[in-house]
Amino acid sequence: MTAALSNDALNQLFLTARTHNKWQPRDVSDDLLRQLVNLMKMAPTSVNCSPVRITFVKSPDAKARLKPFLMEGNVEKTMLAPATAIIATDYRFYDYLPKLYPHTDAKSWFTGNNEFADTSAFRNGTLQGGYFILAARSVGLDCGPMSGFDNAGVDAEFFKGTEFRSNFLCNLGYGDPAGLHPRSPRFTFDEIARIV
Ligand SMILES: Cc1cc2nc3c(=O)[nH]c(=O)nc-3n(C[C@H](O)[C@H](O)[C@H](O)COP(=O)(O)O)c2cc1C
Repeated sequence: MTAALSNDALNQLFLTARTHNKWQPRDVSDDLLRQLVNLMKMAPTSVNCSPVRITFVKSPDAKARLKPFLMEGNVEKTMLAPATAIIATDYRFYDYLPKLYPHTDAKSWFTGNNEFADTSAFRNGTLQGGYFILAARSVGLDCGPMSGFDNAGVDAEFFKGTEFRSNFLCNLGYGDPAGLHPRSPRFTFDEIARIV
């Protein structure tokens, strides 16, 4: 039997968790980032293809490499965040299917079928990006996801010679509530869902 999570856990993951713009001056340990990834990787992807690739940008040098590609409004909070994850997708994810899905030849389903491969990469890489945010919150971190940056520039700077393409960035740390925007409204159930 799987029990429902406690209200505290639901608050931490969804209900009171917020998108953060300011950060307490508190380090995020490499060990915590490892815990985050080791949780995220267990959530499901199609044929277990696991196409997400994460680069944690922590050092001042690496932050300086990222800075020129950020949209103006994202610069300060990203430079001040204890860590910034580049959530990328490996568009050659299917090369690893003999390891990740060994009971059948799933690699052949994607080889030479670029449209199916690219759609699968984007779908599953983005799903894993969502899992990433929830895994970060699970280990006690706050998140600040961002798509306001030059993807091609980041890809050239960080992923040269690979088929990795950046999807979004996610600042990580311990949020300072002073930087929160007012919470925006969400849809009601009936506006976005139906039971048929
Ligand atoms: C994929 C993604 C991209 C986003 N891009 C930006 C961004 O470039 N800059 C920014 O300030 N906020 C960005 N946001 C933040 C959203 O506006 C914010 O998560 C949303 O309004 C919900 O806020 P809340 O979690 O505080 O309720 C992004 C969020 C997501 C998930």
